[in-house]
Amino acid sequence: MNNIIISPSILSADFSNLERDIKKVEEAGADWIHVDVMDGHFVPNITIGAPVVKSIRKVTKMPLDVHLMIENPENYIKDFVNAGSDIITIHYEAVKNVKDIIDQIKVFGIKAGVSIKPKTQVEVLEDFISDLDLILIMTVEPGFGGQKFMEDCLPKISEIKNLLEEYNLTKTVIEVDGGIDNKTGKLAIKAGANALVAGSYIYNSSDIKAAITCLR
Ligand code: DX5
Ligand code: ZN
Repeated sequence: MNNIIISPSILSADFSNLERDIKKVEEAGADWIHVDVMDGHFVPNITIGAPVVKSIRKVTKMPLDVHLMIENPENYIKDFVNAGSDIITIHYEAVKNVKDIIDQIKVFGIKAGVSIKPKTQVEVLEDFISDLDLILIMTVEPGFGGQKFMEDCLPKISEIKNLLEEYNLTKTVIEVDGGIDNKTGKLAIKAGANALVAGSYIYNSSDIKAAITCLR
């Protein structure tokens, strides 16, 4: 159980105290930092870009788990790599040729992931599954923190686990994002997730360390 990766989403942090809020989760035992990049096109919200990732890179040693909810991510991969990303995840629904962009990310020697929205089926991943370091299952419609976990996405987590086993891909991370708390995190792990993103549950908690321990 203790090899579950916990990746707090800074979307729920206080942006005027970002360094403090990143250190808070680092000291509390978080494994990665999840950075939600939104462009106001692929999702109806705008957040941050590569310059902020670059600043975050300076204040933490934790791997930066960058979730690109943007159109035309291929135009920005280099910027996010240069900013210090360790993992870049693009959305299946945002691009035409997923495989090309995965290759583009991996050329830089960092990890590449693909995310699917709640209504996107697992089968779409099959063509390039062996090229992925990470699969990110959205359990809310991407765009905002603090939404309710969609339980009907749980079977997709098990499907991905089975698919990875079928292809003998034991190292691919199955990360789940959206509405994760102590209860839904447990359901996601039971279904086969080995990485959890949590924003509001962690940052709204009065005891961040306990919240992270509880998720793990
Ligand atoms: C949603 C983002 C999530 C979000 C998670 O589009 O991708 O990472 O910040 O926030 P919570 O844990 O509050 O659902
Ligand atoms: Zn995210």
